[in-house]
Amino acid sequence: MIFRQLFDQASSTYSYLLASRAGGEALIIDPVLEKVDRYLHLVKELNLKLVKAVDTHLHADHITGLGALRDHTHCITIMGEQTKADVVSMRLADGDKLTIEGLSLDVIYTPGHTDDSYSFVLPDRVFTGDTLLIRGTGRTDFQNGDPRQQYESLFGRLLKLPDATLVYPAHDYKGDTVSTIGEERVYNPRLQVTSVDEYVDLMNNLKLPNPKMMDVAVPANMKVGLVQEEIARRGWALPAAEALALLGKPDIVLIDLRERSERERHGTIPNALHVPYPALQESIRSGGILHELAKSTSKRLLFYCAFGERSAMAVQAAQDAGLTAACHIGGGLDAWKKASGPLVR
Ligand SMILES: [Fe+2]
Repeated sequence: MIFRQLFDQASSTYSYLLASRAGGEALIIDPVLEKVDRYLHLVKELNLKLVKAVDTHLHADHITGLGALRDHTHCITIMGEQTKADVVSMRLADGDKLTIEGLSLDVIYTPGHTDDSYSFVLPDRVFTGDTLLIRGTGRTDFQNGDPRQQYESLFGRLLKLPDATLVYPAHDYKGDTVSTIGEERVYNPRLQVTSVDEYVDLMNNLKLPNPKMMDVAVPANMKVGLVQEEIARRGWALPAAEALALLGKPDIVLIDLRERSERERHGTIPNALHVPYPALQESIRSGGILHELAKSTSKRLLFYCAFGERSAMAVQAAQDAGLTAACHIGGGLDAWKKASGPLVR
């Protein structure tokens, strides 16, 4: 596995770049906006293809690099389903898998620092966000934080991992880089409590000042979405209600860009083809199935995904590949559901 721990001094944030092999797909966890050029350079140097960028939670102390990485690489942006961020391409829930080529991370919901905090688990390591820090835990006094929930996330979830599991947090302010679950169980002062009430008491009396960047970072991080208006302005977006009226029409081909797990959980629009977003480029280039389908039958390609982010990027890519009738469902399946569009499972 290729693994890089990257550091932003200004916010003491750790970001993590993962891939299973040189030349393969890569994932980045908790990227920081100011460091995006550095990440892109490293991705190039290591000959990787960045396909996913994920935040463990909505950060209050730095602006996320998710939007900028998506704009540069067309990667998928990911957060938990509780996030207040306006639009990310994909939302995860407890029990899901976060996958790229050759790597599969277990997704566990670990609220408490915020109500959208998640941890990501590999067999030998866990990315804990701000839920569990090295010799500390993330504060619980804003962004719907809750020390009771955090106690459960720590003692009920993270500390149940094997003692040898490496702990990679989203921050460290003292220069530590990695710990283990066993080490934190014994030496983390916040974990030496004997009851949930004692933990709540401890967390409610920290009296910490708000992060310097909070008033800037939180609003900015709630607006990471791709500007779908530009695609709409060019006439390449259909509102869900209009798309609904086209359902079953012979000159339309619906294409679902989501992953299998999203299709299973949320259902699919009837008779849609499944072309996962990572396979898109291959299928729209000359000789690819969607390219040939569109060219030989004059059918209109109507892309959709979860929230309209991947499909907006797909429309642009299809247009670039000469498929001028390509369009998408603005707002994705989320908007489709709100328009009472039918779904099959
Ligand atoms: Fe945080």
